Amino acid sequence: MRKPLIAGNWKMNGTKASVETLLAGVVAGAGAIERSEVAVCPPYPFLQMAASALAGSSVRLGAQNCATAASGAFTGEVAAPMLADFGCHYVIIGHSERRAMYGEDEAILAKKLAAAFAAGLTPILCVGETLEERERGDMEKVIAAQIDGIIALCGIGAFGSLELAYEPVWAIGTGKTATPAQAQEVHAFIRARLAGHDAAVAQKVRILYGGSMKGSNALELLSQPDIDGGLIGGAALNADEFLSIAKAGDAATQ
Ligand code: 13P
Repeated sequence: MRKPLIAGNWKMNGTKASVETLLAGVVAGAGAIERSEVAVCPPYPFLQMAASALAGSSVRLGAQNCATAASGAFTGEVAAPMLADFGCHYVIIGHSERRAMYGEDEAILAKKLAAAFAAGLTPILCVGETLEERERGDMEKVIAAQIDGIIALCGIGAFGSLELAYEPVWAIGTGKTATPAQAQEVHAFIRARLAGHDAAVAQKVRILYGGSMKGSNALELLSQPDIDGGLIGGAALNADEFLSIAKAGDAATQ
């Protein structure tokens, strides 16, 4: 049984005041979470604040992106060793917003994964199809290419040391959640694809679902055999709502 991971991706949201409140709420409620692992991924400027607030709690810290290089003349970039230095455990790599808005392709993502591993971080690698791709009947082709591209560049072994997130682009921030059956189908497809290379890695890797997940739909999604957690956007900006998803993770593993 894979332990559920409930990770909040705060995206580019928050002020010092709102982040302080959110962190305090998450820390206060996290003690009641028994079987799920909880993590939050704030924007870079809040990492120090978050590391302090989370110290002594079970909540892990993550970042939303990292540079391909470990240091140097890359104005505006943030390197993986800096994230590790600030107490990050996770780093999200290849979110669909970065793929779409910043042109991140498999070649770039492979470099970011290597940078994250070298810094001792655990990447949360995101994959997912757009609505147009799904409606064209290309969902499997797109997901397979995203997975195969990373296997080709990083090796199947990389999937033994990372978390995956399936985030259908059409479900992100739209309120349109994939049905549990739709999500399970893709998660099973991903696991089978990995099993074609290494059965043990495929069994081990956690595959999180992301896309309009909230307290009211989390239990059904997290009860699917191949859904091992959630990567939560909007609902992670409210501590009670976010923790209700973690509680659903607990309930799903009972
Ligand atoms: P929403 O939960 O806001 O749909 O965002 C999902 C997501 O993109 C998490 O990375």
